[in-house]
Amino acid sequence: MQELHPKTIIEPFRIRSVEPIRFTTMKEREEKLKKAGYNPFLLRAEDVLIDLLTDSGTGAMSSKQWAGMIASDESYAGASSFFRFEAAVRDITGFKHVIPTHQGRAAEHILFSTIAGPGDVIPNNTHFDTTRAHVEHAGAEARDLVIAEGKKPQAQHPFKGNMDVKALEAAIKKVGPDNIPLVMITVTNNSGGGQPVSMENIRTVSTIARKNNIPFLLDACRFAENAWFIKQREKGYADKTPIEIAREMFGYADGCTMSAKKDGMANIGGFLAINDDDLAARCRGLEILTEGFPTYGGMAGYDMEAIALGLYEVLDEGYLRYRIRSIEYLGEKLIAAGIPIVQPTGGHALYIDARAMLPHIPFLQYPAWSLNNALYLLGGVRGVEIGSVMFGMQPDGSEKPSAMELVRLAFPRRVYTQSHVDYLAEVLLSVNSQKDKLPGYRIVEQTPVLRHFTARLVPVDLASQGE
Ligand code: F0G
Repeated sequence: MQELHPKTIIEPFRIRSVEPIRFTTMKEREEKLKKAGYNPFLLRAEDVLIDLLTDSGTGAMSSKQWAGMIASDESYAGASSFFRFEAAVRDITGFKHVIPTHQGRAAEHILFSTIAGPGDVIPNNTHFDTTRAHVEHAGAEARDLVIAEGKKPQAQHPFKGNMDVKALEAAIKKVGPDNIPLVMITVTNNSGGGQPVSMENIRTVSTIARKNNIPFLLDACRFAENAWFIKQREKGYADKTPIEIAREMFGYADGCTMSAKKDGMANIGGFLAINDDDLAARCRGLEILTEGFPTYGGMAGYDMEAIALGLYEVLDEGYLRYRIRSIEYLGEKLIAAGIPIVQPTGGHALYIDARAMLPHIPFLQYPAWSLNNALYLLGGVRGVEIGSVMFGMQPDGSEKPSAMELVRLAFPRRVYTQSHVDYLAEVLLSVNSQKDKLPGYRIVEQTPVLRHFTARLVPVDLASQGE
């Protein structure tokens, strides 16, 4: 008999514990959405059928993780769960000091308030919102230096998350290395479409930073997904394992911030890991103030157990193949139907280009918001708008179009199966066939900062009828 090399990529797990999802009618969803001020953030999760709001903290844990959690050590100081967590982080990243935090933004807070101040510039490929907010909170400037292709939804490039190294060198020359407390690269580049960064780019940025005596850190939230893309797309890495690739990536850096809610395969948790003894001592001082004792830092022992195992499970080839393929599979169906998406599909999410899909809706009537609401109304699917509701309001209260009008469909880890993805494609195709009927929206209630979380809106056609 000949060995079978199956084309079907199956979910690399069987399901032993299930969480029912609730079906609703379109009429029910219309009522729920109206009650939520046409803002999917204000829906109850139980009224959502397929929840793609985020891949952060929403993954399913393995039976081994649950076993580790039950056997955790909840001692305040020196818990064995911490040492297992620390050993896993050190083994994979190679960094000397491991500072636990309750999630990624806490690591960012500790790092930037210790290292950055007014007059400083932090270069990154693209800062994630919380990273940018913490840089700015420390008084420094967050500067995005992603390559030009990274800003064009339909531009094809295997590593659209790469940093523009010429722009980095120019920035260092202009600002001066003394005013750049660190250079950061986000893997994968979440705000740029979950696009990967090549090993070559990481190596080059590291060389430039070291030549200028500037520390180089990774925002490592999705390090395993990035490693998988390197294995698939970069010459010389096809035969390496994801853990070998991850170790090489970390090897070029002096530290990292991490939200373990993503590639830590946990529901909560994070860490800051760095080599520098002096910086680590200063960061630990702040950690005690804001997070907790250095051997738990805002996490329970069981969270640290889940991460210690999750960091290895996320590097499993079968898992990564299934994960990245699920998103690519959805992308292929949408491309075939002529739905404009950010290409190639990213690591944790698929991004739909609502500006291209809904040209009849002007930016001030928020096309991506409209598309996201249509996905809920038609299919009970919840994504997130990354467009002018999120980014359009300027500090002076005026409105400016966001660089892109996207809907992000982020996939929780190990949660959905191929039939869920087939259903998603069906919903999207149906929305696409009725796209001319989608209304614009108008904001009727909002807060001055981060308005997308709480804003209330109305569809424009209803509003014009005085509703
Ligand atoms: N960095 C990146 C690249 C992220 O995507 C996130 C979170 C953080 C840092 C902050 O981590 O949430 O643990 O404090 N991203 C989530 C998302 C919220 O939906 O993309 P956190």
